[in-house]
Amino acid sequence: MARVAILNQKGGVGKTSVTLGLVSAAIAKGRSGLVVDLDPQSSASWALGLDAPTGLAKALRDGGSGAADSAIGASPWSETLGVISGGIDMQRWLPEGGPKTSARALAKALAGVDEGYDITFIDCPAGLGPLTVNALGATDLAIVVTESSAFANNTMAAAADLIDDVWDRVNPNLDLAGVIVNRQPAVSKEADTRFDELGKIVGKRSIWKPAIPQRVIVNEALGARRPIHSYGARAADVSEVFDGLYRKLERSFDK
Ligand SMILES: Nc1ncnc2c1ncn2[C@@H]1O[C@H](COP(=O)(O)OP(=O)(O)OP(=O)(O)O)[C@@H](O)[C@H]1O
Ligand SMILES: [Mg+2]
Repeated sequence: MARVAILNQKGGVGKTSVTLGLVSAAIAKGRSGLVVDLDPQSSASWALGLDAPTGLAKALRDGGSGAADSAIGASPWSETLGVISGGIDMQRWLPEGGPKTSARALAKALAGVDEGYDITFIDCPAGLGPLTVNALGATDLAIVVTESSAFANNTMAAAADLIDDVWDRVNPNLDLAGVIVNRQPAVSKEADTRFDELGKIVGKRSIWKPAIPQRVIVNEALGARRPIHSYGARAADVSEVFDGLYRKLERSFDK
């Protein structure tokens, strides 16, 4: 069992798309997985084929250890893929108790729940609020998904600070696995400049290569609620990028 949280303060950079691409790669490799969709918008769970939340908000409100077990839904993507989501109720969910307790609420709800899965992905909503803090409180690894833009670069320090803070205060097992750059245009001087700038902000070694290219098929797969790997040759280049990033993720768990 291994967990990874995918986050960024900035919205719309591709947190969910990258989560789903990595899920698709995991399935293609024969892995079992659990996706915890913390976003009240439920984008990840919708793309994974679910039409309604599975009860995560209620499980968190109940507060019992392992309470999320009853909130596992099935995804048509794979028989070995489970999905947990809370929908719009997640917006209203604010855990009881002091800062330390509340930051561990998701960890408590997930306790033992994902033991039988190879990997658990936690897709965070945009922002660095209580939901993201809870994801970091429950995970071993964090990945920051970003894009090569000035606005996105401006948010990197805040995400890194939050990871440090949660590591210090709540979860000593937390590690920043790396930064994944999404939606890199084939030709853009501005994007190349911002990519180099990002290397200076987070350190070049933290950036996982290659960046995920900007490709219409990524958008299309989400809309069709299909794994990117199901597109075969049409999406071969993007699927290969996700395969490579997924291999790196598995190696990160072994460290
Ligand atoms: N590599 C890509 N190529 C083309 N389009 C992409 C790519 N990655 C993401 N997109 C598109 O960008 C939009 C935003 O992506 P996504 O919803 O994954 O971002 P997000 O960070 O999860 O957003 P939010 O902050 O709302 O959770 C979507 O319409 C998606 O289809
Ligand atoms: Mg999202």
